[in-house]
Amino acid sequence: MRIICEICATKLNTMILSSLLNRFSEPETLKMAKLGRELRAQGIDVIDLSLGEPDFDTPQHIKDAAIKAINDNWSHYTPVAGFLDLREAVCSKLKRDNDLDYKPEQIVTSTGAKQSLANAILALVDDGDEVIIPTPYWVTYSELVKIARGKVVEIRTSTEASFKATPAQIEAAITPKTKVFMFSSPCNPSGAVYSKEELKAIADLFKKYPQITILSDEIYEYINFVGKHESIAQFDEIKDQIVVINGLSKGFAMTGWRLGYTASSVEIAKAMEKLQGQFTSGTCSITQKAAVTALVGDLKPSLEMTEEFTRRRTTTLKLVGEMPGFKCYAPEGAFYVFPDVSSYYGKSDGTQTIANAADFSMYLLNTAHVSSVMGDAFGEPNCVRFSFANSMTNIERAWARIKEALAKLK
Ligand SMILES: Cc1ncc(COP(=O)(O)O)c(C=O)c1O
Repeated sequence: MRIICEICATKLNTMILSSLLNRFSEPETLKMAKLGRELRAQGIDVIDLSLGEPDFDTPQHIKDAAIKAINDNWSHYTPVAGFLDLREAVCSKLKRDNDLDYKPEQIVTSTGAKQSLANAILALVDDGDEVIIPTPYWVTYSELVKIARGKVVEIRTSTEASFKATPAQIEAAITPKTKVFMFSSPCNPSGAVYSKEELKAIADLFKKYPQITILSDEIYEYINFVGKHESIAQFDEIKDQIVVINGLSKGFAMTGWRLGYTASSVEIAKAMEKLQGQFTSGTCSITQKAAVTALVGDLKPSLEMTEEFTRRRTTTLKLVGEMPGFKCYAPEGAFYVFPDVSSYYGKSDGTQTIANAADFSMYLLNTAHVSSVMGDAFGEPNCVRFSFANSMTNIERAWARIKEALAKLK
């Protein structure tokens, strides 16, 4: 009787759920965090190096602005693209930090950079359109393209090439079907940061292809270890081809507040606003009011967080350097290391054999009780991502455990 019911349930599921669900995967980052939480619930001391969020509290002046917004009764629906004062604050920020001139009608705020990326992809990509993405890329990029029925065209980069795509590589991937080129700088997961000269060379290339839109994800802007952030939108000749994606999650330790934004041509902004109007409407009113303070207020707390990330990066790189067989690029931004661990493929501790990055990540979770994310999720199957958005103590404990676990693999 039970068996029949299970069969019925399976049949029912395949009948009621849409085929869309089979086109994309659940984020690997969230899956690993979930597995870590499950082990923790069993009383195991798991150190989380899988998740991509600052472990700091939101700065006090931003929290105060939110409390004031609640007391001032900012409790109603908001305009889809965001309150005018928030869109003006985004324009002021883009001028102050990036010397970019945008008007409020070119800004669409959302419930996070993830939604901004979804808005942009769904506004631009049709069935069969090609989207060029250099590897490694943030897990969500390829899945959003699949949701839109587009085709992901990967450009493979490497540790040796500092995980950056060259204009020649990009041009070789362009076809008449190319609609979008998307990348992040600083990059999650590699930490690569494109210099002004490198961005200029890419901008010069896209001048020849005005039909292609460039999604420039700059959410790690403030977490930069090599100097000033450069945006590809600074090159006027291609500015209308660019959608700048940014948000408050990383730079202001506001992951749970959900505020992302785009700066683009008015035409693309209106398209994204139309889409968002049917999905979520405007993002949380309290968050929007707090975001005005974050964007135009004192940047000192954000810069202090970056100073702490700089110290953790130094420690992490020293410890990663002690792992036999790792090949690791020193990240120039964001808060991850993304070593090539393929020298462990084929090795075993006697019971568990490592065939790929997924096995490697699972081995570290089960043996060292440290969570990480396999590189396949980012389009780079030889690497594994480890975050340093964790306390110095936890970073040191985690890498000591990893070293011990690796020593067992023969
Ligand atoms: C490269 C990149 N873009 C976008 C996002 C999404 O950020 P948000 O929290 O604003 O949705 C993330 C989050 O991890 C990210 O790493």
